[in-house]
Amino acid sequence: MTADSFPTSGAPLPRGGGASVVVLSILLFAASFSPAQAQKRPPVPADEPLQRIVFGSCAVQDKPQPIWSPILEEDPDLFLFAGDNIYGDTANMDTLRHEYSTLAAKPGYQKLRRTTPILATWDDHDYGANDVGGWYEQKEASEDIFLDFFNVPEDSPRRQRPGVYGAHRYGPPGKRVQVILLDTRYFRDRFEKVELSEKAQKLGFGPYVPNRDPDATMLGAKQWDWLRAQLQKPAAVRLIVSSIQVVSPDHGWEIWSQLPLERSRLFRLIEDTGAGGVLFLSGDVHWGELSRYGGGSYPLYDFTSSALNQEWPQAKNLPNPQRVGDTIYPYPNYGSVTIDWSRDDPQIQLRLHDEEGDSVLSHTVSLSALQPEAE
Ligand SMILES: [Fe+2]
Repeated sequence: MTADSFPTSGAPLPRGGGASVVVLSILLFAASFSPAQAQKRPPVPADEPLQRIVFGSCAVQDKPQPIWSPILEEDPDLFLFAGDNIYGDTANMDTLRHEYSTLAAKPGYQKLRRTTPILATWDDHDYGANDVGGWYEQKEASEDIFLDFFNVPEDSPRRQRPGVYGAHRYGPPGKRVQVILLDTRYFRDRFEKVELSEKAQKLGFGPYVPNRDPDATMLGAKQWDWLRAQLQKPAAVRLIVSSIQVVSPDHGWEIWSQLPLERSRLFRLIEDTGAGGVLFLSGDVHWGELSRYGGGSYPLYDFTSSALNQEWPQAKNLPNPQRVGDTIYPYPNYGSVTIDWSRDDPQIQLRLHDEEGDSVLSHTVSLSALQPEAE
């Protein structure tokens, strides 16, 4: 691990300094989370590049989660939880803790925690309530529970500031993978809502329309400054995890294009910093797809995987002119990012997998195609 990365929920806790985190975890999740389960395999060594990253979102804790089996078979170097990791939907923090403990008790997830480093951000349902943003009244308490559950160390910068955003870098120079976890909830202003026609509802559209208020924020000023600094750090591949879709055009649900000025700001920031290797990973919507924004100096892909154990067949007809290919997969799925570093021009394979682990979408991108100099 490099200097700015740190152990995660799947990585072993630091000797000595992590003891209080272990104690806290045991106290919070005593019913289903034993000290033995807290033993994790070592993190990816600093001199070995990440080769396979698996991610997913939207896991209902009260339903079976068979999808952990094929995820475990992938033997990922890292698992990314992209939000709605549980459905808490409560202002009662005891209830929220209980819902996390239900996830912790899932045998498949327990095995993942023992064997695989896990990084996470949140979305509305684990943050606290459906579609809620910066106005959620329990956001500070919810953040503490989130950071505890994912074993974020006491000395992590994520503990020192409002919001759960954070960044990590893995691997040696030249093959370094940066993971940027955005918080699209803690600071977010309201989207505008409309009454939907029956036809639009049947087609799967949601009730939101873009809010063009120049003061409306997605990330908040401090997180924007922090993101700029992260994009200026050296990395070959940058996986930016946004709980909500970034590239997809307006389909009426919670996506960046509901705050179009903020979406433009994000794309502009990537241009201004000259950051190469950006790939967005997103969730939330209950379907999987790959989108591509071509308005910058290199294509920005948004790889969406949602949900881990839910389906929403109605989404099948939703148009998305930015979609790569014609696959929109509204059944349980997870995503994998596999990087072949052995080539002079490393190849990044993006695959969406069904509940059996079979690939339902596959697209390969050359790392050279994700450079500002490419066009
Ligand atoms: Fe969500």
